[in-house]
Amino acid sequence: MLIRTRRNRKGPYLRDLVRENHLRVEDFILPVFIMEGPGREEIPSMPGVYRHGLEDLPPFLDEARSLGIRAVAPFPAIHESLKDSRGSESTNPDGLYLRALRLIKDRFPELVIFSDVALDPYSSDGHDGIVSPEGEILNDESLDILGNMAVAQARAGADFVAPSDMMDGRVGHIRNALDSEGFTGTGILSYCAKYASAFYGPFRDALQSAPKSGDKKTYQMDPANVREALREYDLDLQEGADMVMVKPGLPYLDVVRALAEVSELPVAVYNVSGEYAMLKAAASAGWLDYRSVVMEALIGMKRAGANIILSYHAMEAARWLQD
Ligand code: PBG
Repeated sequence: MLIRTRRNRKGPYLRDLVRENHLRVEDFILPVFIMEGPGREEIPSMPGVYRHGLEDLPPFLDEARSLGIRAVAPFPAIHESLKDSRGSESTNPDGLYLRALRLIKDRFPELVIFSDVALDPYSSDGHDGIVSPEGEILNDESLDILGNMAVAQARAGADFVAPSDMMDGRVGHIRNALDSEGFTGTGILSYCAKYASAFYGPFRDALQSAPKSGDKKTYQMDPANVREALREYDLDLQEGADMVMVKPGLPYLDVVRALAEVSELPVAVYNVSGEYAMLKAAASAGWLDYRSVVMEALIGMKRAGANIILSYHAMEAARWLQD
């Protein structure tokens, strides 16, 4: 045999030398659930992940900072009594989310905040846009609310706003809204290729934000499609997105690869709640070695071409990367 590929795998130092992709703590954005009230509450379908009360947030973020985490994506669990059909609570300056953003920016000015722009946490219908009496998700009518949310979040300290709603034209609309209020330096991380996925189940448990009726298939993408993701990318690029994201992660790594090959923008991937829950559940049953499968899943996302990974495993992975 002239060629023996095993020569390059002989020992750990050699394997380190020829390694093509690397996971770094700088790659992570840590999603953080926020709630009203004291202490923290574990999310049953996401063991090890909590909703944090505002007093619990600084010690939690201290821990994240000490592990090297540099970016966070907060999501609010809004009390049901504050939800309405237009998601009005989303722009209440004294509401939970905007208070949380101000607190984070004040206490951790160096942390990069990616705030969430969508109606669902505040919507009595549990949809990302306004719902008509006939049950249609109204696109253009939702844009003004999304623009106002983005501006309110920028004002509260968001470095980037991250529209997760999938309404058409929202990136351009949000860009205009931000610029016209003077927030020309606030970036947009667009959920560019966001699929209508059942892997979001635990997240909807965390925020109690599941749709009250219907599903999200008229705005989120069909899991069978990839060409459509490139179309969404073209639009987001033209509309002024600064970064694009694919979501979910593991079942969509081909989409990450497709975008990574053409994208002029950094490509993020969202390793979503259901992906986290799967590995946790299998590990707790003793069926998989948790640390090994988490690190393998994460390097798979880098290998697929993602620059940035939103992951509930970020804290654990950051700890392991220090070992
Ligand atoms: C909604 C939103 C969802 C997630 C992030 N933003 C769920 C949905 O579209 O219903 C899911 C994230 C996860 O599952 O971790 N705007």
